Amino acid sequence: MAKVYGQTVFEQYLQANRRSKELNDRARSLLPGGITRTSVYFDPFPPYMEYGVGCRIHDVDGNERIDFSNNYTALILGHCPPAVVNAVQAQVTRGSAFAAPTRHEIDLAEVIAERIPSVRRVRFASSGTEAVMFALRLARAFTGCRKIAKAEGGFHGTSEYAAVSVSPDLDLAGDARTPVSLAAAQGVPDRVVEDVVVFPFNDIDATEAIVRRHRGDLAAVIVEPVLGSSGMIPARPDYLQALREITAQNGVLLILDEIITLRLAPGGAQSIYGVTPDLTVMGKIIGGGYPVAAFGGRAEIMALLDPEGGRPPIPQSGTFNGNPIGMIAGLATLRQLTPAVYDRLNGMGDDLRRRLRDLFSRKRVAAQVTGMGSLLNLHFSGVEVTDFRTMRTGDGGRLRQVFFGLLNEGIYLAPRGMACLSTAMGDEEVLAFVRATERALET
Ligand SMILES: Cc1ncc(COP(=O)(O)O)c(C=O)c1O
Repeated sequence: MAKVYGQTVFEQYLQANRRSKELNDRARSLLPGGITRTSVYFDPFPPYMEYGVGCRIHDVDGNERIDFSNNYTALILGHCPPAVVNAVQAQVTRGSAFAAPTRHEIDLAEVIAERIPSVRRVRFASSGTEAVMFALRLARAFTGCRKIAKAEGGFHGTSEYAAVSVSPDLDLAGDARTPVSLAAAQGVPDRVVEDVVVFPFNDIDATEAIVRRHRGDLAAVIVEPVLGSSGMIPARPDYLQALREITAQNGVLLILDEIITLRLAPGGAQSIYGVTPDLTVMGKIIGGGYPVAAFGGRAEIMALLDPEGGRPPIPQSGTFNGNPIGMIAGLATLRQLTPAVYDRLNGMGDDLRRRLRDLFSRKRVAAQVTGMGSLLNLHFSGVEVTDFRTMRTGDGGRLRQVFFGLLNEGIYLAPRGMACLSTAMGDEEVLAFVRATERALET
């Protein structure tokens, strides 16, 4: 009988994660799929976590793994960093949320504005989805235009306008240079899809042609400096600058979604690429492990939120916006993130990517390691991965096999091959990842 592709790694996973399976069975009668967040699910079930400290996480079966997911890049200091735990503990007995502002949101806003000069005004939200939703609404209100342009494969959360061409079916997505806008979920209204224009990431000429075609109707271009959910693909050095010029020339706002890329430098990717957006969306690391996001930018755009003198053109609500626990955790985290800390973290990322590329070439495995700074993604493809469509050339079966091999070897990463580092890691963890990958390739 032919050997089932990678059967043993899956069997090994099932055997070592029996309690997680029991919890998943129990959860399924209430929570669809037994989970409450699609990105944490993988077939047949994910491990259920018990606790995490530093760069290590422990599941209900007693398995310890090095956490290279870091809650999808949010935990830049790893789990329970003492500075954050102490700051949060001091606030927990003083109140978790008030229907009133606190000084903590001013403290965090000041640090953000100091680090990211394009952020002249800022507002907090509780999730990146919400922050993106407000940034897009601001852009539409400020310009009076209804359309939004986004990259094919770009992920900006799950609000209606963001839920277009996130992971489109290539049989339906049309020509690479003029991608068709496709709903990313059932229930997204056709009218919304019609108002979202899709462009190919990293292709300046095609993007320019699309922006020009829709000028007059287009409020904003929103883009991630590193295409995240499509495989940690950095923008080419001149792509973001070209986008800045194209948007300015056509009267369109530029929104950078830096929810992941604030990981790259104190001033985010915009400080590396030398681009000044009109608006920036932030999240993940700015909450220090708690649910905090933000959006900010030019004062005259953000003025649409200002309630002085009556109801603002764009009211913003959110029961937990600016809650002191999240603000304090975010502040404690950003204070740890000095330029030297970023340099060490990014250097570890460069080292890990280099070692993995060496491994793949030594083993003659057709694979790419994309990424930048502390962010990386494995792709089992012989094609250079520069956008959503080249990412799709990857061998999903091979990736799944290596993913389970890594899980069994004590390495936790995202099923799509995304990994990131935390400051709680060092050379030991970098080498552990490479050795585990080598073993996983042999399974
Ligand atoms: C680039 C980007 N934008 C937006 C979001 C949505 O943020 P949240 O999950 O906090 O709603 C994410 C989340 O992964 C993201 O990576």
